[in-house]
Amino acid sequence: MNSTALQTLRARAPDFAPRVAVVLGSGWGGLTGHVQDPIRIPYADLQGFPAAGVAGHGGELWLGHIGEQAVAVMSGRKHGYETGAVDGMKLPLQVLHSMGCRVLVQTNAAGSLRADFPPLSLMAISDHINLPQRSPLVGESGSDRFVSMVDAYDPQLLAQALARAAEQGGQLHTGVYAWAFGPQFETPAEIQMLVRLGADAVGMSTVPETILARYLGLRVLALSLITNMGAGLSQEHLSHAHTLSQAAAASQNASAVLAHIIGTLALD
Ligand code: HPA
Repeated sequence: MNSTALQTLRARAPDFAPRVAVVLGSGWGGLTGHVQDPIRIPYADLQGFPAAGVAGHGGELWLGHIGEQAVAVMSGRKHGYETGAVDGMKLPLQVLHSMGCRVLVQTNAAGSLRADFPPLSLMAISDHINLPQRSPLVGESGSDRFVSMVDAYDPQLLAQALARAAEQGGQLHTGVYAWAFGPQFETPAEIQMLVRLGADAVGMSTVPETILARYLGLRVLALSLITNMGAGLSQEHLSHAHTLSQAAAASQNASAVLAHIIGTLALD
């Protein structure tokens, strides 16, 4: 591909070839503190990158290193619920792939559907349920659009993440993430439906990017920070402010675990 954003990045960071792309969701902003010698580029300077539209989401691309790993960290993503379109992350992911990224690490905040995954715990995503049945690949042509979603969350990367988290002494659960379109939270009846469908957590992001990543051939690792129990499963009142305050409480630990995972990720 040859986009204006890619040219801008090549001009600002000549010779920098990130291998791991990271998308930071609510509660994960602390990861940028682990990027060494960062070059920070506002999305506003990168044509086609999303304008930051949701409180708690930054709007900068950070290029640098975490441990040994050359990374491109997107602090902030585009959500389907912002415009109705689900392909808002298509161009950024194409650009990062063209720069050399081969892995996409995704993060998000999510509601828990299980009593044994309480608020502030971490869950690595092993699979997802695309509940809205929307795809960012609509409009693509050719056979490549029929992407297999088996092992969409790379089993090897998942195993590495679990091993690294255990070294840190922290518990990392594994489970199925259900994409709810939002922006409203679920009803208690919807949460009961999701439990019956086999989901372990629910959130409003991540799935479109995973589909795009698999289309591009990027391997995916995804982590959820549990900020609340799903609607009706506890007495908490759900709001974005609640999500952000819970996310802030867990942010430092979550980011430290993730930095350790990324810094030591074996890519081959
Ligand atoms: N539902 C959907 N998205 C979320 C939730 C939730 O309970 N918590 C954080 N993001």
